[in-house]
Amino acid sequence: MKVLIVGAGGREHALCWKLRQSPHLSELYCAPGSAAIAAVADRVPIAVDEVLKLADFATDLRIDLTIVGPELPLSLGLADEFHSRGLNVFGPRKQAAELESSKVFAKRFMERHGIPTAPFEVVHDPAEALQAAKSFGFPVVLKADGLAAGKGVFVVGDPQELAAAVQILFEDRTFGAASDRVVVEAFLPGEEVSVIALCDGERLLPMATSKDYKRIGDGDTGPNTGGMGAHSPSFVLDKEQAGDVVERIMKPTLEGMAGEGRPIVGVLYAGLMMTEEGPRVLEYNLRFGDPEAQALLLRLDDDLLPILASAAEGTFNVPRLSFRKEASVCLVLAAAGYPGKPVKGEVIEGLGEAAAMEGVEIFHSGTAQRDGRFVSAGGRVLNVCATGPEMVEALRRAYAAANVISWPGKAFRRDIGRRVLGG
Ligand code: AMP
Ligand code: GLY
Repeated sequence: MKVLIVGAGGREHALCWKLRQSPHLSELYCAPGSAAIAAVADRVPIAVDEVLKLADFATDLRIDLTIVGPELPLSLGLADEFHSRGLNVFGPRKQAAELESSKVFAKRFMERHGIPTAPFEVVHDPAEALQAAKSFGFPVVLKADGLAAGKGVFVVGDPQELAAAVQILFEDRTFGAASDRVVVEAFLPGEEVSVIALCDGERLLPMATSKDYKRIGDGDTGPNTGGMGAHSPSFVLDKEQAGDVVERIMKPTLEGMAGEGRPIVGVLYAGLMMTEEGPRVLEYNLRFGDPEAQALLLRLDDDLLPILASAAEGTFNVPRLSFRKEASVCLVLAAAGYPGKPVKGEVIEGLGEAAAMEGVEIFHSGTAQRDGRFVSAGGRVLNVCATGPEMVEALRRAYAAANVISWPGKAFRRDIGRRVLGG
């Protein structure tokens, strides 16, 4: 099979790494890919938002399956364009992708289908925002309606923070039209967990549980990021709770969307808060989580390629996914300045030594090559991943590898997995 992966980050690097192991693969392309991805796939110089060019490329090369990493091309209608040309794609059409690309749509969808989520109001200007925030009390959460790369959500604890968030959302217009509408919702205390499933429009195959760490700082402090680390299993949900989430949240979501004429072919990811009253949906993503995918793909026993191809064609070829018993972890090494303006262009040392360590796999999320050496080129730079018979060992291996990699501004969390393991 000839496969095209759309994206350039650590998630796409991990997808390429996994698909390379498939005996069904003949050719693997990645658009735009990265210098590191070039070792496992042929790079195609087309950006993720150039939907028509991607469709032209897939047509010309007779690509059998296209797998979409990030949300942007899905929200731009990549899958619709590919379908109109008879091309197979693992990723939802634009109307289904709205479950991720519009938080207002997602909240109203959950309300229509009785899917548990935080109480909310939709507001359109500063006065409405202040009024709604007052009615919920502090802390309260404000979310830009549209896509904002994980940076459009503000958890505010007092009137000053509220005023600052309202300023950014409605006055500075940092997110443009994405904050024309804003969701104001009640703050939910609890432990976060991600539940991710593959979907063929009608059925879903749950992946193993995973947990990501969104805040920049140890102990979940500081601003939100795209994710600073992840592990699988989650250690938040036991088997019974995970089954319950599938029955009470994942299946009703899939069925609800199909019933509204928006079938989900691709990934359904529910970001959950485990509250004392049970799980509540914080957000949906219609793509693999990054860095959750890296941790999950390390444990996945199945050949991913025929499974994704069968989903794209409408019916899964297997009844369930199988994950190895081992634990896996993904540490994100970030650049100084992230999640603000990252320092770029610093030479990275120790990659070879780290990659050779037992159980370790390195994926690149933001690097480039200069004079034959890798340099930092993004906010999130590297994913240092490891598996182990137990989580403690997987963590030990990943941290040992993270410590032999160096560049001047390297920053990473030291507490991934600690709290859920009871440390
Ligand atoms: P979202 O993009 O909606 O998942 O929000 C990003 C992050 O903000 C989440 O991963 C949580 O850490 C936090 N968050 C969002 N909504 C809430 C909420 N209602 N209560 C507490 N934390 C929240
Ligand atoms: N790690 C969270 C996300 O991919 O949105």
